[in-house]
Amino acid sequence: MDNTVAVLIPAAGMGERLGQGPKAFVPVAGRPLLAWSLAALDRFGEELVVALPQGWQVRAQALCEPWVDLRRVRWVEGGETRQATVQRLLAASAAPWVLIHDAARPFLDEATIRALLGAVQRTSAASAYQPLVDTLVRVDDGAPVDRAGLRAVQTPQAFERRLLLRAHAEGERRGYRATDDAGLVWCLGHPIEWVLGGSHLFKVTTPADLSLAEAVAANRRFGAAT
Ligand code: C5P
Repeated sequence: MDNTVAVLIPAAGMGERLGQGPKAFVPVAGRPLLAWSLAALDRFGEELVVALPQGWQVRAQALCEPWVDLRRVRWVEGGETRQATVQRLLAASAAPWVLIHDAARPFLDEATIRALLGAVQRTSAASAYQPLVDTLVRVDDGAPVDRAGLRAVQTPQAFERRLLLRAHAEGERRGYRATDDAGLVWCLGHPIEWVLGGSHLFKVTTPADLSLAEAVAANRRFGAAT
């Protein structure tokens, strides 16, 4: 059986909520966000494909080169939405297994990657998640929602490529707009195996997240996928 894994990184977002240009290139401890994820994934997958905003390949290479080995990285142009970007990444590789990780989550660890790659072999679809800690209420009427029955979805996620292609095609057919890929696969009626991620996998979205990322980076060795 072909166990080839392609690592696919959506990094084509424009970072509008952060307001510092394309988010994947905003520095944390002097290194672009994208370089953090590339370093964590350096020892995983047989192929690595990164989706960038239009016209960013030369700059992306120049900004990441001082920090990570880019020899096995291929670059593609992203789409209008994350969903469209992932479709372009899927089209760029024929590997039967894919691991998808958002460049906006810089602190990826080796234990999560390994757990996810194990889980996907069992169920063909797996995602990192984090248990919720805050009290949750509904927007419309303020009614509390039992957080014990809910999870926050993170990346990395991993899939059998054929299954994810089918999920994206079905999502397009139904006009479904998803912010992640496990949601699309779930819509097919296919189970997802949930792998405990953690708060360190937080997504950098706002300036406050960036300050938090700087603080985390100060205590973390770059490239150490531990
Ligand atoms: O916008 P958000 O932070 O939710 O995006 C999650 C990830 O998807 C980011 O790594 C971002 O670069 C990527 N993305 C993309 N193409 C888009 C929009 C977002 O690759 N059109």
